Amino acid sequence: MKIIGTGSALPKKIVTNDDLAQFLDTSDEWILPRTGIRSRHVISDERLEDLAEEAARKALSDAGLTPKDIDLILCSNVVNEYMTPGLSCIIAAALGLECPAMDINCACPGFIYAMDIAENYFLAGKVNNVLIVCAEEPTRMTSWTDRSTCVLFGDGAGAAVFTKGDNLKAIKLNAQPSIEHLYQTRTLLPTPFITKHETEQPLHMDGREVFKFAVTTSIRDIEEILSKTGTPIDGIDYFMIHQANMRIIDGIRRGLGAPAEKFPSNIYDHGNSSSASCPILLDECNRKGMFKPGDKIVFSAFGAGLLSAVAYLEW
Ligand code: UT7
Repeated sequence: MKIIGTGSALPKKIVTNDDLAQFLDTSDEWILPRTGIRSRHVISDERLEDLAEEAARKALSDAGLTPKDIDLILCSNVVNEYMTPGLSCIIAAALGLECPAMDINCACPGFIYAMDIAENYFLAGKVNNVLIVCAEEPTRMTSWTDRSTCVLFGDGAGAAVFTKGDNLKAIKLNAQPSIEHLYQTRTLLPTPFITKHETEQPLHMDGREVFKFAVTTSIRDIEEILSKTGTPIDGIDYFMIHQANMRIIDGIRRGLGAPAEKFPSNIYDHGNSSSASCPILLDECNRKGMFKPGDKIVFSAFGAGLLSAVAYLEW
């Protein structure tokens, strides 16, 4: 398959580190050097499904397609206001589409997990065009009194349209299952029969553990996929790394021995928008005209699960 269109949408409210310092024991001097983040877009009066629809429409327009050309919608999402139906169905309804629609909850590497599913639909000959939308509102998962998590996240949606082609050169999904390092729990509605104890807990993260997992798995995933395809690291034009922390991206870059200009980043004014981060970055680079046909691009992402994934494709 190959990418023929991208789109993204962000909430209008921008929250700076200085804004956070008004109600949290934190500062720009702490956040910026440790994360690379100065501000983030945060949902206020928007609905996530509207951002998802906007990103999808922009991607379709960029691809020169109309909604009826889409044969499958895949949506990567961790939380939104609907438990059911899936966000993919809500996007399908908004676009007036009747094609199959499914959600995946693979946290930050969701864009690459969705790509893997899409590729298999293409290989099975079941689809001509697939729309992937990653829409996330992690700012609704964190406690806004927990300075170690809430300062990291931003909301948004990114989308890409894929069509038949052989531009996806390799893709690999990994799991190192462990819940305790990164999770959130919620309680469901009561019934007359529930006797177990249930708790609601905002996002819990062992930052250092996740940091180590991110850097080591990303370097390993990228080296593995490139060595399997016989591609040298310096043959890659762009490394699109999940925008979790600038120090994570720098650690991966140093581990690979690749120059900084090959690592586009928007974490400075976006923060970490979970699975939306890679397609939002992709769309911003695409709209700047950075990519030319044949450019070699690697995606690498990691997060709750603990899951990681890597993909290597040509533009
Ligand atoms: O999408 C994937 C999910 N998440 C990630 O990728 C996150 C990966 N981890 C990280 O990015 C980093 O571990 C963090 C940015 C979360 C934390 O950085 P760190 O250098 O690992 O700091 P730390 O957690 O070890 O905390 C160091 C100190 C602590 O104070 P004490 O105990 O040394 O007195 C924290 O309480 O910094 C304190 N601290 C803060 N201080 C001011 C933690 N957060 C803040 C804050 N402002 N926002």
